[in-house]
Amino acid sequence: MSKAAESSPQGKEQTVGIDDLAVYVPGLYLPLEGEFARIRGIDPGKLIKGIGIEQMAVPDAHEDAATMAAMSLLLLMKRSGLEPERIGKIYVGTESSADEAKAMGTYVIGMLEQVYGRGSFRECGTVEMKAACIATTLALESQSYWLAAEDEDKVGVVIASDVAKYPLASPGEYTQGAGSVSLLLKKNPRLLSLEQVYGHFTRDENDFFRPMGCTTAVVNGKHSNQCYLDAVTGAFDSFAARAARKGLIVPAAGGCVTDSLDHILFHIPYPRMVEYASAAIFRHDWKGCQRRLRVEEEIGPEPGEGDYEDKAAFQAAQADYARRFARSSQFLEAFSAKVKDTATLSRQIGNIYTGSIYLGLASLLELDRIQTGQRLGFGAYGSGCSALFFSGQVEAQAEDLPGLGLMKRLEERKAITLADYEMLHEGKREKSVVPPEQEFVLAGIDSQGYRHYEFVE
Ligand code: HMG
Repeated sequence: MSKAAESSPQGKEQTVGIDDLAVYVPGLYLPLEGEFARIRGIDPGKLIKGIGIEQMAVPDAHEDAATMAAMSLLLLMKRSGLEPERIGKIYVGTESSADEAKAMGTYVIGMLEQVYGRGSFRECGTVEMKAACIATTLALESQSYWLAAEDEDKVGVVIASDVAKYPLASPGEYTQGAGSVSLLLKKNPRLLSLEQVYGHFTRDENDFFRPMGCTTAVVNGKHSNQCYLDAVTGAFDSFAARAARKGLIVPAAGGCVTDSLDHILFHIPYPRMVEYASAAIFRHDWKGCQRRLRVEEEIGPEPGEGDYEDKAAFQAAQADYARRFARSSQFLEAFSAKVKDTATLSRQIGNIYTGSIYLGLASLLELDRIQTGQRLGFGAYGSGCSALFFSGQVEAQAEDLPGLGLMKRLEERKAITLADYEMLHEGKREKSVVPPEQEFVLAGIDSQGYRHYEFVE
């Protein structure tokens, strides 16, 4: 494991990483089976199995990305007993900001100071980072370097907060969701020590974007899936090369990099995507190792370009091989052991954009699936497009962290009708579906466009 320069007072080499996290999910959801599927004319099997989402989280009329960010930060501070004065930096990753200039973190601090006292965050630096769904991970990487150099016992917070929104009745609609994740970053963290090896991949793409003034994203769906796979594979290769150069992961002869990862968490735009991502990464990584022989015994060798008359025939053979690989017992075993459970919460929430990869971490925690010493690999993706692959090791104190209470939160949510969902989606509903209680609300937007937030007891 790569360590920050100094040693801790206990003599243990100092690390930086994720100490704790909190997740906020709105109290409303739209079930996708039933009314939604019927009215949109979609087979429910496609939504539940083909896409993998059963329920989409929907923000109420009083919520936006800033209130959700403030809620997840409040939850984090309460569960960690964190005082505002201790927080050196708050970086917010979002693509749902309501302001083109003012950093969302300043609104979030304004809300939190209603609870902790005016001026209590005045020494905290805050910046908003935008890079589609990868922003929070870039914020985490950046804070990890700052923390390693920080010498005043400060901690950092990285917040992801987004409302995923596509046009009504479009193919993106059933992958929407909303929510916020706050990560507490510290030296010698209780949950996950980052190994400080980051593999990047970036390429200019038109897979998904939201031009100024548009409230919903423009998406080239199938192309976006391919960009995701290309970018995550590129970032994985960059990570693998850097990890080898640093001596962190050096596979033995016949071994491969994913053998050293106990769980792999990918960005989750919808649960089926992590299946496609896993198939792409395992197939790519296993090419040079023993496992490839076992796969070949089961489904035969990979198609070679020279074996086909033209490009179209070769591509068809590749697509067929990819389908057979995704059904092979070698793949299904690895997927089920290392990836499948990361998508558990996303099935009930949908895409929360830049926080969805950390929703994967919350899923593993809620299912009690991580153990001390395990290495987690993270494959983050952001449209446009960029990917970042990194790793961390689970710390012993992770087992002592209190539960996140997310399963209970999901059970307590209110199901809404398609009509209510459509009103909320189009911003036409002014009155909250569920009156707010013990939460931050958007109280109004004044004539200058400044947003006023309040904490409702
Ligand atoms: P689509 O046209 O709705 O779905 O597009 P499809 O026709 O491709 O079907 C999906 C799967 O359902 C297929 O499975 C079908 O066979 C299956 P596969 O063949 O691949 O195994 N299916 C069924 N299964 C069971 N029963 C049935 C049935 N019918 C079909 N009856 C798409 C899907 C994701 C493209 C669309 O929803 C979309 O455009 N979504 C938004 C974009 C998106 O999420 N892209 C993901 C990659 S980009 C990304 O992750 C970044 C992002 O988070 C934004 C950011 O970075 O900020 C989006």
